[in-house]
Amino acid sequence: MTYFRNNIEELAGYAPGFQPSQTDVVKLNTNENPYPPSPKVMEKVHNITSESLRRYPAPLGDIFRTAAAEVLGIPSDHIICTNGGDDLLTICFRAFCDEDRPAAYPTPTYSLYSVLAALQDSPVIEIPYEKPDWLDRLAQASAPLTVVCNPNAPTGSHVPARKLAELAGQLEGILLIDEAYVDFAEENCIQLARDFENVILLRSLSKGYSLAGIRFGFGIAQPKLIEGLLKVKDSYNVDTVAIEVATAAISDQDYFKANVAAIKAERERMVQELRALDFEVPQSYSNFVLARCVKTDARQIHQNLAEKNIYVRYFDLPGLEDKLRISIGTPEQDMVLLQALQELRGR
Ligand SMILES: Cc1ncc(COP(=O)(O)O)c(C=O)c1O
Repeated sequence: MTYFRNNIEELAGYAPGFQPSQTDVVKLNTNENPYPPSPKVMEKVHNITSESLRRYPAPLGDIFRTAAAEVLGIPSDHIICTNGGDDLLTICFRAFCDEDRPAAYPTPTYSLYSVLAALQDSPVIEIPYEKPDWLDRLAQASAPLTVVCNPNAPTGSHVPARKLAELAGQLEGILLIDEAYVDFAEENCIQLARDFENVILLRSLSKGYSLAGIRFGFGIAQPKLIEGLLKVKDSYNVDTVAIEVATAAISDQDYFKANVAAIKAERERMVQELRALDFEVPQSYSNFVLARCVKTDARQIHQNLAEKNIYVRYFDLPGLEDKLRISIGTPEQDMVLLQALQELRGR
């Protein structure tokens, strides 16, 4: 006997990365930014008034929309504020998918997509990236919701915007481009969200802006789509503190750009260092790398590192069993990891 709908009963649920309670660990498992948020963010936090907490928040997060619109060079009616990028994903799956309306996406990718589809009782069309014609196959499937994570997680790979523009033009349904990691790439798809009536972009402040703890993301699309998405969201999906803090963060572009540049430079160094330790590491356009353990067992390394309070991510999923996803940390954190890997290699 269960009180739940069948699909919920059968669902394993999304498994978030491990969040250790201690702080004296090297935590490279959930793609957080290793640097603190902008000092202007902390100033905002300290100046939150009790009156602003007593009241409900602005339902649309207007001050953030205005600030983001200015930074991105788009009208503010092209933006929906969300409780992290994940909230936008939930809104989209609720808006576009059901028993008769499948979601399609290339795999491997962010494991939340399949969970959200299952919650909607929606079939999924999963197309392996390995197929050289995966973009054509997505176009042929022409699902009501197609999701492409770009840069992709957990691989860190990137598809040129012009290819996604071609796909958007071929699809009859929505193309949701998950750009949670785009701050670390060389190119983004913002022009597609302006040009195509069926494109939605996901953005997150968790990675580039060091705000994973505050939960703030946003979507970019033409106003007609934004109006539809607003109908689906919770009435007050972003809280007052999050709106204030996210606005301060996106307004401090100098701090953001310096931080992102440091992480990208460190990423290139890590790719070289890991290759020198016999890992196979493809180019990444994200704030993490996916390292294939050629001579050792990935699960075992993951375990051995955890025993030393060094956390990286291991996915027991097809195609990922021999790989570790490693977030880019500070040079000091990364050095601790590299030294531990060197020691483990010597065993
Ligand atoms: C691919 C991808 N999309 C979206 C998100 C959502 O990010 P958040 O809800 O923290 O903004 C994540 C988080 O890890 C992610 O990896």
